[in-house]
Amino acid sequence: MKKPILELKGITKEYGAGKSTFKALDGISLIINEGEFVSITGPSGSGKSTLLHFLGFLDKPTSGEAYIDGVAMSEMNEDRLAEARNEKIGFVFQAFNLAPTLTVGRNVELPLTIRGMGRKERKKKAEDLLAAVGMLEKKDSMPAQLSGGEKQRAAIARALANEPRIILADEPTGNLDSKSGKEVLDILHGLWEKGGKTIVIITHEPVVAAYAERTIRIRDGKIEGDVRQKPRKAEEHEIKVKR
Ligand SMILES: Nc1ncnc2c1ncn2[C@@H]1O[C@H](COP(=O)(O)OP(=O)(O)OP(=O)(O)O)[C@@H](O)[C@H]1O
Ligand SMILES: [Mg+2]
Repeated sequence: MKKPILELKGITKEYGAGKSTFKALDGISLIINEGEFVSITGPSGSGKSTLLHFLGFLDKPTSGEAYIDGVAMSEMNEDRLAEARNEKIGFVFQAFNLAPTLTVGRNVELPLTIRGMGRKERKKKAEDLLAAVGMLEKKDSMPAQLSGGEKQRAAIARALANEPRIILADEPTGNLDSKSGKEVLDILHGLWEKGGKTIVIITHEPVVAAYAERTIRIRDGKIEGDVRQKPRKAEEHEIKVKR
C-alpha cells in the first residue's frame, strides 16, 4: 500500500473582500501518494497554480487544511514550514526563478548554502547534479547566457539539491521549444521511474499530461476529473511550442 505524502482537505482560497470576493479554489480535497506522478490540467485561471501553492505549503488557505507526511500545515510554525519546504519539496517554475547575479553552479548550490553545507561539499554536489541534467559545462555561465531549456534544466538541478521526495512543477515546459521540452520531461520521468520521486506537474498540454499516471482536471476552482492512466512518453515532435 502506498502512503499519502500530500493531502488537501476542503481547501478554499478567496481573494478580495466583501462583494468582490473571488473563490480561486472551492473546497478541494485530494490525496497524493508517495511515488505518484500526477499531472494537473485545466483552463487558464481555473486555479492550477493556486492549488500547487497549497501542495507546496507556500500559501495559507482561507479554509481547509494541507498535510505533508500526515502533519497539518496549521500545526507548524513558520520555521518548521520553511524547513519542511526546503527538505521535502523541490520547486520548478515556468519562469525558472534562477538568481540572475549567481552563476549556474552557485544557483544549484543555493539550497545547500541555506542548509549550511560547507563550500567544498556543496560545490561537488552541485557539479554532480548539473552533470545529471547534462549541464556541467555551463556551471560557470550566468543564467542570462543560457537557453530556455538550459535554464529549466539548471532549475531542476537546483530543485534536486536537497534530495527532496517531492517535485512540484508549474508548466515546466511552457516556455520551451519541443526538443528542450522533451528533455525536461524525460528528466522528470526518470526521477519518477528510477528515482522514486513524487512528481506533480501542471500543464496545458495533453501530451505532457500523458507522461503522468494520474491526471487531475481543475475547472472554476473545483476538481472536475481525477483519472488514472498508463503513462506514455511523447515523441519530440508531439510537444508543441506554446505561445
Ligand atoms: N493574488 C491574487 N489576487 C487576486 N486574484 C488572484 C490572485 N492570484 C490568482 N488570482 C485569481 O485566481 C484564479 C486562479 O489563478 P491561478 O493562477 O491559480 O490560475 P491557473 O489555473 O494557474 O491559470 P494559468 O493556466 O493561466 O496559469 C484566477 O482567476 C486569478 O485571476
Ligand atoms: Mg498557472
